[in-house]
Amino acid sequence: MPKTPKLVRALNSPPVVIAVAMRKGGVGKTTTAVNLSYELTRLQVFDEAEQETRPIRVLLIDMDPQGNATSGLGLEVPPDGDPTPTMFNVLHPEKHRRMPLNDVIQGTDFGVDVAPSREALDELDKGLGPGGQMRLRREVETLPAYDFIVIDCRPTLNELASAALSAATWVLAAVGTGPDEVGALASLDAAVENVDLNNPGIKITHVLLTNYLGGSRATKSIRRAVEEAWPKEYLGYISRTIRVTEAKAHCQPISVYDPTCTAAEDYQRVAVRIAEEGLISHG
Ligand SMILES: Nc1ncnc2c1ncn2[C@@H]1O[C@H](COP(=O)(O)OP(=O)(O)OP(=O)(O)O)[C@@H](O)[C@H]1O
Ligand SMILES: [Mg+2]
Repeated sequence: MPKTPKLVRALNSPPVVIAVAMRKGGVGKTTTAVNLSYELTRLQVFDEAEQETRPIRVLLIDMDPQGNATSGLGLEVPPDGDPTPTMFNVLHPEKHRRMPLNDVIQGTDFGVDVAPSREALDELDKGLGPGGQMRLRREVETLPAYDFIVIDCRPTLNELASAALSAATWVLAAVGTGPDEVGALASLDAAVENVDLNNPGIKITHVLLTNYLGGSRATKSIRRAVEEAWPKEYLGYISRTIRVTEAKAHCQPISVYDPTCTAAEDYQRVAVRIAEEGLISHG
């Protein structure tokens, strides 16, 4: 574990809402949302309101109909027709079918709370109805007890992603190391600017290289391009290791599955930096 600073949650400070996004599939968004959420809950914070030190409280909102963030923390993704309430109910355009976000949240074995997804959420990506893009933001504002709320986005930037970006305080771009990654990052940047009407000043605040295999000239040049274009936002990289895929198959965070692997250490380092930026940090 990297050295952790003393973290303080100031009185009346709102949660930090982090949308994990990229306009490209399979780059490690969900892996990042799951593991960042888990690593944050392993850090301690002094809560000024409660006058005690406690683990950081995290809610992970699954905004992808695939439900990989939901299953990644050991919850079952309810098949359509199953009565378990999910984000589908929270975001539904028809008011009588809607449910408060707080009512769909489930605890997990790993300390992270999850607002689950289901396949039917896909329907809503075409249209959330009047006021729909602000619906998630308003719901998130009813949950002040969390320190961080992490939102896992799908790769297509339609209604669901717009709702996520409208609710976000920060946008964390997960960047893979394929040939068109830098272009995808620029495209996400433009899309984030487009939600400025709903969420003034929103921008990409963090850039993380995921699934990174050092050594090749191509990946080094992507890393250099990202470091140069996003020097303040660059969070470093997550090493590629088969352990990540194995942990996913076991529906566990990486550092539960194998605490000694490089990617576990990488996500721990990223979580410390995010916690330091989102809370008050003393040395
Ligand atoms: N650091 C890593 N090392 C090895 N494999 C990784 C790493 N990060 C992600 N992967 C693998 O890459 C695949 C895609 O990851 P993930 O599901 O997190 O991407 P995604 O961006 O959420 O995809 P989608 O766009 O479909 O939602 C998964 O099989 C995952 O296990
Ligand atoms: Mg995903």
